[in-house]
Amino acid sequence: MAAREIVPGVHAVGVIDWDRRMFDELIPLPDGTSYNSYLIRGSEKTALLDTVDPAKTAVLMANLDLAGIKNLDYIIAHHAEQDHSGSIPAVLDRFPEAKVVTNQKCRDFLVDLLHIPDERFIVISDGETLSLGGKTLEFILAPWVHWPETMFSYLKEDQVLFSCDFLGSRYATSSLYVPDEGVIYESAKRYYAEIMMPFRSSIKGHLEKLATRDISVIAPSHGPIYDRPAFIMDAYRDWTDDAVKNMVLIPYVSMHGSTQVMVDHLIDALIERGIPVKPFNIPKTDIGDLAEALVDAATVVIGSPTVIFGPHPQAVYAAYLANLLRPKTRYATVIGSYGWGGKAVDTVAGMLDRLKVELLEPVYIRGYPKEADFAALDRLADEIKKKHEEAGITAS
Ligand SMILES: Cc1cc2nc3c(=O)[nH]c(=O)nc-3n(C[C@H](O)[C@H](O)[C@H](O)COP(=O)(O)O)c2cc1C
Ligand SMILES: [Fe+2]
Ligand SMILES: [Fe+2]
Repeated sequence: MAAREIVPGVHAVGVIDWDRRMFDELIPLPDGTSYNSYLIRGSEKTALLDTVDPAKTAVLMANLDLAGIKNLDYIIAHHAEQDHSGSIPAVLDRFPEAKVVTNQKCRDFLVDLLHIPDERFIVISDGETLSLGGKTLEFILAPWVHWPETMFSYLKEDQVLFSCDFLGSRYATSSLYVPDEGVIYESAKRYYAEIMMPFRSSIKGHLEKLATRDISVIAPSHGPIYDRPAFIMDAYRDWTDDAVKNMVLIPYVSMHGSTQVMVDHLIDALIERGIPVKPFNIPKTDIGDLAEALVDAATVVIGSPTVIFGPHPQAVYAAYLANLLRPKTRYATVIGSYGWGGKAVDTVAGMLDRLKVELLEPVYIRGYPKEADFAALDRLADEIKKKHEEAGITAS
């Protein structure tokens, strides 16, 4: 428990969740997470910016006690997802005078998700301001950070941007500010990949919209605060840019080793040709690592044997996930082994319909690979090298 000052009148009162290891029953959290909540005290009014996951309501309440808060005028809701909104009903119960300040879309979600009564809302629109007395919040609607109702707020006097999930990281740390940019870079990239990458064009728009503002501090809803905003803004510019990196990812699964030998051969063939490559043995992979790698890799080769006339379900999972996340991948193909026939290649390739990829010639062989099959994998490595070179994707 802690209530820590960021700038005079602004305290971090959120909760560090050291032990959480899974989010949305989908995303592993190797480093835990935090649900950041901020308290702003103006000369006239007091506002709480977002709350915390409902499992941590008691800790938020204790932090509000530590901050010495006696009354609350506003709860600013940037996002209706429960990791930020889940404690709003408890805070409203504790402070009967408080109103939830949010945009129309977020209000509608909060009514449906948390059954907050209509009279507890103040609905604001894009660009509107709220004065707390010497502290002025400007609301910036930012639909599709990953939900349609998200918004940011900007504290004018102190040039603090409260960016919600945008620019955040899944990283539990006792440091209020970024302790190590290298570590937070990885964590923030993973988080971008997992929830924001499918909305890359909206994310680019948000970056452009913010570019004209003077921002001294970025206070996201997850992970430490940025006192060097350019670090995370530049990283996001790179991730959302159309350029891809000279990198081949090979998510694969193998039951009895045939596909495994093919993958091993292709890895060596790519290394010999000077092309960076990273395999992901899907059943053993942290799916967040794969998502992070998908952010900027030029090529994805999915490896799967045939199981009951189709691809292995683990390969289906990886292909389905890649298709959902919509990375900027340029080239894709399928390799693997079958016994008596089926539609594994067509099924996997057909699952990548949301990606703007050029499909390269698959290498799909019967049984354990032979000389001719290794030669086909060498030709695939040649083709990948040629494609990368033709597109100018050569730096490693
Ligand atoms: C549970 C199971 C189901 C299979 N179903 C099919 C199938 O429907 N069609 C087919 O061609 N081969 C099928 N096979 C054979 C495998 O695709 C073949 O043995 C392949 O070489 C396995 O590659 P791996 O060693 O990379 O796992 C199946 C094998 C297993 C273990
Ligand atoms: Fe969210
Ligand atoms: Fe969140």
